[in-house]
Amino acid sequence: MNSEEEFYDAETGGNTMCVFVPFLFYRTTLPAPMFSRNDFSIWGFLKKCIGMELSKITMPIVFNEPLSFLQRISEYMEHTYLIHKACTLSDSIERMQVVAAFAVSAVASQWDRTGKPFNPLLGETFELTREDEGYRLISEQVSHHPPISAFYAESLSQDFVFHGSIYPKLKFWGKSVEAEPKGIMTLELSKHKEAYTWTNPMCCVHNVILGKLWIEQYGTVEIVNHSTGDKCVLNFKPCGMFGKELHRVEGYIQDKSKKKRRIIYGKWTECLYTIEPKVYEANKKAEKKSGDSKKHKQKTGGSADDADEMPDVQETVTMIPGSTLLWRIAPRPAHSAQMYNFTSFAMTLNELSPGMEEVLPPTDCRLRPDIRAMENGDMDTASLEKERLEEKQRAARRERAKDEEDWSTRWFHQGTNPHLGSSDWIYQGGYFDRKYSDLPDIY
Ligand SMILES: *[C@@H]1O[C@H](CO)[C@@H](O)[C@H](O)[C@H]1NC(C)=O
Ligand SMILES: *[C@@H]1O[C@H](CO)[C@@H](O)[C@H](O)[C@H]1NC(C)=O
Repeated sequence: MNSEEEFYDAETGGNTMCVFVPFLFYRTTLPAPMFSRNDFSIWGFLKKCIGMELSKITMPIVFNEPLSFLQRISEYMEHTYLIHKACTLSDSIERMQVVAAFAVSAVASQWDRTGKPFNPLLGETFELTREDEGYRLISEQVSHHPPISAFYAESLSQDFVFHGSIYPKLKFWGKSVEAEPKGIMTLELSKHKEAYTWTNPMCCVHNVILGKLWIEQYGTVEIVNHSTGDKCVLNFKPCGMFGKELHRVEGYIQDKSKKKRRIIYGKWTECLYTIEPKVYEANKKAEKKSGDSKKHKQKTGGSADDADEMPDVQETVTMIPGSTLLWRIAPRPAHSAQMYNFTSFAMTLNELSPGMEEVLPPTDCRLRPDIRAMENGDMDTASLEKERLEEKQRAARRERAKDEEDWSTRWFHQGTNPHLGSSDWIYQGGYFDRKYSDLPDIY
């Protein structure tokens, strides 16, 4: 493809220059496979860092994946079809179910993704316009210490807005790295005049030093409908002693009188079902009566001293008769294992297609030289460029301190979440007018 390439524009019926590639042309692979981590020993490096906050440690680049954290959070949008679906449903409980499926699906791309995304530089932005999926998203790194990323997505037909700010708090615990994704997700469905808010579950990467890396997500996610106070409570289960609960999500939807209306169950790595509480209970009783003949195979203990091994439980979610499927994960492409376990969606995120560079602001992550070099398999350049960018950021900070200048964010401002009253970052509009004069030179 060259930059003069023209695409047929179905809407205007004519040939127009198309800046954002029609989805049929999104790339399906990265330019280069990943660098092997096998020969790299990090113990000597990491033992100095136990208990420290990870944002204060400069990690060797071999543990990264070639995406900025801003791009990583835009993966929440992979299953946007669920929001579109929620908009079309007239029953509020049915809507809540689909919103719950969206909230779970939004963290599914984390599965087996042990690469650390690049810390965004202050002022870095990421735009994702997906006309085929009917939305566009803008995100900005609004704070460096602590790192805060704000995003705002809207449907092109104006039936939803999805926004939030995230402060990933990472802690290194010797064997594992725990990420607390502080920050609120807010979804507004304009047609139904509804707003839902929730926070994401905790995420833990096990065995960063020894053994096989694996990822666990746990904690309670409460999705609240602010019009009524009705809510959906989802419990991301920790894997537990025998691994029976690995990746499991279970919860319920209750109305404002606290009456349980639906049970929701599944795995965030696989699928999610919904069922009537009565049918669910009846089924459970019947199972107990039959003596629970299918006892789960228990993991043999003993190896836990060296590594927190991922329990070897391959069983999938068993559908209880009477359930309805809400969401199922899409299979990853065959070459995913050589490419940081990216999903098809993730493969496209750093693509810089012809014509894009002229339209994007100079702060877009796609223009970051370190990520670009890593994506191309050039680890030495990636490493040098990452250091250069971080030093440039520190120098700019020193200059501001000298002039007693404060950093001002460009597309978001600090405000309050309209539904919770708590502090949040609010999109102030204007990004898509594409007037990108006096943006900071961060690369
Ligand atoms: C990808 O997944 C495999 C299989 O679970 C895992 O062994 C590997 O460490 C993962 N790679 C990355 C980069 O996360
Ligand atoms: C959410 O609030 C709206 C507006 O009051 C209400 O009509 C709807 O029943 C609620 N939905 C759920 C799932 O609780």
